[in-house]
Amino acid sequence: MRGNINIFSFQHIRISFYLCLWLAISPVYAQSPSANAVASAHPLATQAGLEVLEQGGNAFDAAVAITAALAVVEPTGSGLGGGGFWLLHRESDQKKVMIDGREMAPGFAHRRMYLDENDNVRERASLDGPLAGGIPGIPAGLVYLAMNYGRLPLSISMAPAIKYAQQGFPISSGLSQSIERAREDFQSYPSSSKIFLPEGNVPDAGYQLIQADLAATLKSIANQGFAGFYQGEMASKIVQGMTANGGIWTAEDLQNYVVLERRPFETNYKDIKIVSASPPSSGGIVMGQILKILEHFDLENMDYVSRAHYVIEAARRAYRDRAVFLGDPDFVEIPEQRLLDDDYIEGLALTIDPLNATPSDKLGELPEIRNKGNSTTHFSVLDKEGNRVAGTLSINRGFGSKFVIPGTGVLVNNEMDDFAIKPENPNSYGLIGYEANAIEPRKRPLSSMTPTFVESEERVGILGTPGGSRIITMVLLGVLDFSSGKLPESWVDLPRFHHQYKPDTVYFERNAFTTDEQQALISRGHQLRESRRLYGNMHAIMWDKRTNYIYAASDKRGEGKAETR
Ligand code: DON
Repeated sequence: MRGNINIFSFQHIRISFYLCLWLAISPVYAQSPSANAVASAHPLATQAGLEVLEQGGNAFDAAVAITAALAVVEPTGSGLGGGGFWLLHRESDQKKVMIDGREMAPGFAHRRMYLDENDNVRERASLDGPLAGGIPGIPAGLVYLAMNYGRLPLSISMAPAIKYAQQGFPISSGLSQSIERAREDFQSYPSSSKIFLPEGNVPDAGYQLIQADLAATLKSIANQGFAGFYQGEMASKIVQGMTANGGIWTAEDLQNYVVLERRPFETNYKDIKIVSASPPSSGGIVMGQILKILEHFDLENMDYVSRAHYVIEAARRAYRDRAVFLGDPDFVEIPEQRLLDDDYIEGLALTIDPLNATPSDKLGELPEIRNKGNSTTHFSVLDKEGNRVAGTLSINRGFGSKFVIPGTGVLVNNEMDDFAIKPENPNSYGLIGYEANAIEPRKRPLSSMTPTFVESEERVGILGTPGGSRIITMVLLGVLDFSSGKLPESWVDLPRFHHQYKPDTVYFERNAFTTDEQQALISRGHQLRESRRLYGNMHAIMWDKRTNYIYAASDKRGEGKAETR
């Protein structure tokens, strides 16, 4: 008995000693961030987010303020007529969730809706005008976020957006140029030209753009919530305006729109945890597959060209699976486990030739298909409690379908083009798809939007970007940069390159590869094509828990602003 006590005491002292030693040498991590941070595609949207945080709102209220503000000040990218995904982390209970506000196909949608009698795709039918639009999810998303996660009423969190719409804001030269590019399309719709072509002209930079109808629609949502857009008077106005211009939306379609909570996609890359978009976005799974393939190679100790080669080859393989297997999970069974299974991934990694590109057509038969820029926008928010939001929102192409629903100020999306409108027919981003992403009533089109959190013991990152099919590889390059210990300034500035299986081409920004590097990739069998323009508009935040320093960065390719306060 006595001996036991002695042993216990000895062990006790030993344990205490090691505990003290561990405490003395283990780093101390900050429990909560030292500042709020917002990074978005427009200075006024960033300001809206910061204002709402200063009024006692949390990151989720800020997300409402930023989303609503972007709908006013960045009409090319997102808006009340569009949809998106908000990835949330709530610090109090560590809940992580993806709010799915993706557009839904209207009830009268069907597979042949964009084909002619000979089964040929009718040119631009899924891109222009009311027929191109899915039922919007952003208004419902705003209401859902405020009711379930925010602290402030919509009347406060939407106030900055209402002010920008009502009193106007000075347009940038970028927006003026985008309007110039869309001029002819706007001219087809009096309701659109009334707003974007005042007195028939493209407004110059600095022009004060007032959107009175949009202000009224925003107020209607702020006052009545879901009903303020999807029911009653507003819904009748929407349905009438759409029908009169060839659209197929019905009152039931609006009434039946639902925001869904989805379990985010989660995986690990080395010692980093990735939390990202799950279906109906392809972002998380495709990026996850690429990262898992890349884990088989020692990227850190490779020259730049070899590293690019492996990234391209991994992307080629993952985008192929995207084309075949991914779609709205409420309509198709996605073999997520199989696609990320270690043996399957290892098999894909083994097919990569270290020195030669694998032509996409040589990847083997497609598995049996079961019969059954300045558009889009991303913002990141971190509040002092540690809550986070990564939001990627869209009306698809610049200004969506270019059609404004008369009397509402709402630009309708052209997200229906994200469906595979005919097997193997490339969409406007060159993406192909099959059965899994075929049009069906009430189905959500497959997206590439990839709002993402990256976490290690010491650091937390929040990132995302617009860019259609290239979103996934842009976020991937950002994640790899985070993994190499770099800061958001570097993630957003990185020169970018991309491969998406079909077309079998590596797209790259002019500064991504030197002439010698291009030659080296060509000699490995890659087909290269320099992108006409720089692409992407990433907005990112990082919290370094060791120093409790918050970094925020906005892509220099855009006009955004990142601020910590
Ligand atoms: O959901 C998607 O994948 C596309 N509609 C996103 C479009 C986009 O990012 C356009 N950006 N330049």
